[in-house]
Amino acid sequence: MWRDLKQDVERILLTEEQIKERVAQLAARIDEDYHNAEGKLVLLCILKGSVVFMADLMKAMRLPVDIDFMKVSSYGTGTRSSGSVQILLDLHRTDLADCNIIIVEDIIDSGRTLSHLSDYLKLKGVRSVRTCTLLDKPERREVIFTPDYIGFTIPDEFVVGYGLDYNEAYRELPFVGVLRPSVYAKELVEERDEK
Ligand code: PRP
Repeated sequence: MWRDLKQDVERILLTEEQIKERVAQLAARIDEDYHNAEGKLVLLCILKGSVVFMADLMKAMRLPVDIDFMKVSSYGTGTRSSGSVQILLDLHRTDLADCNIIIVEDIIDSGRTLSHLSDYLKLKGVRSVRTCTLLDKPERREVIFTPDYIGFTIPDEFVVGYGLDYNEAYRELPFVGVLRPSVYAKELVEERDEK
């Protein structure tokens, strides 16, 4: 059934144009930082939210890249975070010692996912690891972690679009918007009642 997802968005936080401009800047910085690096450059997309950002980032870059994918689970459904990180889809490369990996994320919240993944890849023996996130919510940090490349620092609001979801919806919106609280109000009431 066709439904206009935009009606669930309270306001647009980042327009398509703002995102495009910032992605181009990030791509140029990464090109500059890695153009003399020895080894392969691998953009590692953390499924699913980073798909849209990663696709735009790699197209905006000039350096040749390999791409790869991992999936981890740090959240339950909806707005809740379980706090633990579980690897659901791993890397299966035999050339890790030759790989300069940039982990590409859509958002950093508690910092647990990127902190865990960075340590995990270092233990696996990759040549180098850096992290790149489109959005950073520093107010939500639970572990000390600073990404190497940040698109936008944003306030602690529930955002969707450009890959980010609420219960798997809204990923296809071309902008980042703040979700209307009425969309997830029921879940917040249930969360409060559980406490
Ligand atoms: C989001 C996001 C990061 C993680 C960040 O993924 O893409 O992977 O949460 O949160 P943290 O800093 O608190 O660890 P999510 O689990 O929602 O999966 P998705 O990308 O498939 O939507």
